Amino acid sequence: MKKKLDNKTLDALVHAAVAVKKNSYSPYSHFKVGAAVLAPDGQIYAGTNIENASYGLTVCAERNAMFRGVCEGQKQFVALAVCTDPVEEGFGTPCGACRQVMAEFMKLDAPILLVAVTKKGQIKVLKKKLKDLLPLPFLKPGE
Ligand code: THU
Repeated sequence: MKKKLDNKTLDALVHAAVAVKKNSYSPYSHFKVGAAVLAPDGQIYAGTNIENASYGLTVCAERNAMFRGVCEGQKQFVALAVCTDPVEEGFGTPCGACRQVMAEFMKLDAPILLVAVTKKGQIKVLKKKLKDLLPLPFLKPGE
């Protein structure tokens, strides 16, 4: 069943990204990230960054969220929300590796919601599209 991409649905996605951030395993960077993706059937999959003593084995929150969905049989996501610990720029943004993985499982006009929680607990959202974050993408040959 196709779920409409209305504000209520996107709000639930934002809240899922905010809520999962507390489970971040980040004892090395102490930088918590939560992400959530929305599948066409309305299912939401959430993930956090998971670090390792061998630093390079760290996996970002965005990829963990997408991979959780793929492991459940999803092949496409219609929106993604990501919430980081506070950064000077106001909103944390996905790393290049995660943008490339998004291009594998999302359309280029899919909304990417950058989420920040203020000191007073107010949730702020900056809405972008995947194509804003990943211009001139490398895609599967033929697409
Ligand atoms: N991190 C994410 O989870 N997502 C991003 O898009 C950027 C970086 C994580 C990786 C690492 O655990 C920590 O943030 C600091 O780089």
